[in-house]
Amino acid sequence: MNEIRVFSPATVANLSCGFDILGACLDKVGDEIVVRKKRERGIVITKVTGQKLTKDININVAGVSASALLKETDVNCGFEIEIHKGVKPGSGIGSSAASAAGSVFAINQLIGKPYSNKELIKFAMEGEKVACGSLIADNVAAALLGGFTFVRDGSAYDYFKLSTPSELVFTIIHPQIEVRTKDSRAILKKDISLKQMTEQSANIGSFIAGLYTEDYELIGRSIKDNVIEPLRSKLIPKFNELQKTSLSNGALGCGISGSGPSVFALSKGFSTANNIALSMKEIYDKIDIEFDIHVSPINDIGIKIIEIK
Ligand code: HSE
Repeated sequence: MNEIRVFSPATVANLSCGFDILGACLDKVGDEIVVRKKRERGIVITKVTGQKLTKDININVAGVSASALLKETDVNCGFEIEIHKGVKPGSGIGSSAASAAGSVFAINQLIGKPYSNKELIKFAMEGEKVACGSLIADNVAAALLGGFTFVRDGSAYDYFKLSTPSELVFTIIHPQIEVRTKDSRAILKKDISLKQMTEQSANIGSFIAGLYTEDYELIGRSIKDNVIEPLRSKLIPKFNELQKTSLSNGALGCGISGSGPSVFALSKGFSTANNIALSMKEIYDKIDIEFDIHVSPINDIGIKIIEIK
């Protein structure tokens, strides 16, 4: 096995109630990563398509993550990486995580899988540190494990895959403006009140209980955020209208995807999710901002192998 091509999915972090600790994995939207063995040790990024990104392995998240993995292994070869971006950086649907997780997943396959996908999270997190300024595992855990994921403590490598009710479908609108995670973190308050802490803990607990009991209404009631959303929603044109139309068209819940500007609505079934896509489109058709809309079930597998040579 000398070469592998993988699909590395986009992900939704936070899900309103779980800032930095909850994630979910999307289907069909994502990057394709090709990794090829080379004779000399070391990592080289040979091609980037779809977006203008540096090939410098100390700055590009795929290079940083791959180098972190290589440093810990004693393989006597190196790797060339091609990155075909399907997710725009600064989108809020885990662009950096898709490239970071995809590169370490692909290398791990080529060297005989010494690491589990869970163990690969720590390497992918090194890329996230470069992109976001902090070791955040919410997006990379979702990309590598699939389904819904929970991070108790990223530094302690304590992450879990949660249960995935089969009928959940995401509608994601991605306004084509860039909101850098570092910037949208900088506007957050450093302290919250006891009341906010209690509400947020209650919602994260009940969200997870809802996943395990397939209680769709409970999941919906738990998609609430009185801490981050009031601050970040100001960066997203028409956020309030998007949320209102999603809920009035039957979404279980609606909020900011990761650090924005993408907005997610979570629904039971494709018919509701597709109607919400139309209602979101109506709002954005009236303003001068380009956008993409994705309707996606939960990808319970995570990164998928497309081809091995
Ligand atoms: N959870 C992060 C944030 C984004 O909301 O800033 C993705 O890691």
